Amino acid sequence: MKNSKFTRYAAAVLAAAMTVSASPAVYAADGDSSASAGKVVYSFDFEDGDVSAFCNRGENDTTEISVSDEASVSGSKSLLASGRSKDWNGPAFRLDDKLEPYTEYYISAKIKGRYYTGATFSFQFTNSDGETKYSNLVQNLSGSDWMSVENVKVSFTDEMTGVYVYFEGGQDDLFIDDFTVTEAPAVEIEQDIPGLKDVFANDFKVGTAFTPSGLSSKPTTSLLEKHFSGSITAGNEMKPDSVLNQAACQAYFEETGDDTVPQISFSAAKPLLNYCRDKNIPVRIHTLVWHSQTPDWFFKEGYTNDDEWVSKEKMLKRMENYIKAYFEELVKLYPTVDFYACDVVNEAWTDQGTPRQPGEQGSGGSENSAWVQVFGDNSFIESAFTFARKYAPEGCKLYYNDYNEYMDGKLNAICEMAADFKSKGIIDGIGMQSHLDARQSLDSAFPSVDMYNKALDKYSELGLDIQITELDVTTPENPTEADFKVQADYYKGIWDSIYAHKDNISAVVIWGITDDGSWRAKKYPLLFDAEYKAKPAFYSIIDGHDIPDIRPTDPVPTDKPTDPVPTDESTSSSVEVSLLGDANCDGKVSIADSTAILQALGNPDKYGLSLQGTVNADCCDPGDGVLPSDALAIQKIDAKVIASLPDITA
Ligand code: XIL
Repeated sequence: MKNSKFTRYAAAVLAAAMTVSASPAVYAADGDSSASAGKVVYSFDFEDGDVSAFCNRGENDTTEISVSDEASVSGSKSLLASGRSKDWNGPAFRLDDKLEPYTEYYISAKIKGRYYTGATFSFQFTNSDGETKYSNLVQNLSGSDWMSVENVKVSFTDEMTGVYVYFEGGQDDLFIDDFTVTEAPAVEIEQDIPGLKDVFANDFKVGTAFTPSGLSSKPTTSLLEKHFSGSITAGNEMKPDSVLNQAACQAYFEETGDDTVPQISFSAAKPLLNYCRDKNIPVRIHTLVWHSQTPDWFFKEGYTNDDEWVSKEKMLKRMENYIKAYFEELVKLYPTVDFYACDVVNEAWTDQGTPRQPGEQGSGGSENSAWVQVFGDNSFIESAFTFARKYAPEGCKLYYNDYNEYMDGKLNAICEMAADFKSKGIIDGIGMQSHLDARQSLDSAFPSVDMYNKALDKYSELGLDIQITELDVTTPENPTEADFKVQADYYKGIWDSIYAHKDNISAVVIWGITDDGSWRAKKYPLLFDAEYKAKPAFYSIIDGHDIPDIRPTDPVPTDKPTDPVPTDESTSSSVEVSLLGDANCDGKVSIADSTAILQALGNPDKYGLSLQGTVNADCCDPGDGVLPSDALAIQKIDAKVIASLPDITA
């Protein structure tokens, strides 16, 4: 079906362009008007004197929680947190004993210090390894009057325990009032567009970068499963600073006297890896050896932050043992996960094709490399590949990965190195990060499509595999509709160039799912907007390609319908039946489909069917629209009166 839905796409392009700018940032303190539509599940104005839902932050927290009539926003009372003797002291509100996992909530509250306060609104949880993690949701709540946090988005998974939000900062008494928790309105993703991975199923894997916080957002995982389930890269959780455990390294050294066996843990990545295991999604390992997001203590005597750099010999041993432990632990924990690719070394060449400057991470404009510091040059790259080849599980292909990979100096250095490694049998491919910039026009976009295409030509000539590992395309800040159009056109140019090299490319990974979750969120670089809607760039890259049958991945619950759709022919003719009778699109035909049809007919405003559901529902005598006879036909199937649909006895 070439271009069969082009007209509908064109209409949707406009709609996407129009909605994209209204995006509330995750965890932003700014009000998100849609939150007001959600159901309020907790609301405390403290007028009844009940503060029992709030507590301090454990044993060493001296905070006392009481009701006060010294200050208030609504009524005459508020919660008072007094006796705070440390910056980190509460008050806290526990979530996981009151709220549902995998559900998004918005929290709003008013806060005031007794005199002047600089408070922070924070989040904490304990992971499956018993480690407690903290993050700040809203900082700089500074002043002497009442301040607001509004509609701060929170969610958690069922692997997290001890999940709290809390106010901290300073030792001043804190007053809290009008604390509300609202369940975010259920959001349904667009089911009537093709899955990106399905459009390119015969060409390459299509995947994304993902972080555990995305797991608790249902629409985010729905988008992932529909479009990007060809491959997942952990956004941060499999990098050295997440995997290396300083305390355990030091403890092992103390116990054994051996400081060449780094101790590791995948606790940060586990929620993601569990998900990949359960959903059968292949994983790109990112990354073993990198100058960035790698702690300096890894390169220092005694694994301390401020001792001497270790010798090259010692670092080689640490590197080998690290890589060995990394792969062994992954295979042990996840024997069924397909770790099909690994970025062995990341970003080791400068744009000029020289090694980085030696130095601590973050020094020299964050460009310096502790690897170069210890090795004196870039010879650590070959060592890393040699060890990776020795210890990587079968089927795990090894890549050198870099950004600005189309710049001449870097491109030549990578090609020369890769050809050498290829002859030694220690490399399988090149990872082109592809963090690109559409700017204001195709003429000013960087790199030009032509420059990118030439880089693809050169890497293809190596006879190695290529993976596009981190594709994103920035717009200018505060983009206009015209900027999104440029972005879409540029994405198309780049994608067409990738497609033209598809015989050499095994995976294309977009660096994130929705714009608001991107590491470059201010420049809207992804294919879906913060409302989970496909952007013009999505439509531009599938334009001209065969569109497979549209298969919903997400069951549409009968009690939470998507927008009702008219059942007339003109709207539904472009969607094909995925399963006759499957009105609620849960992949099977059951009595629930009959109920869904009857509800939709009885009260279409409340219980409409999705577009796909409408097409499937017309099952008794296809072509006559959705009628009570369709519900009856499904009941007959359920009662085994007929064996299949359509109902030829009707
Ligand atoms: C980025 C992550 O997306 C951010 O969350 C983090 O703060 C910094 O790193 N090149 C890479 C990726 O290889 O690992 C980087 O990921 C983006 C640039």
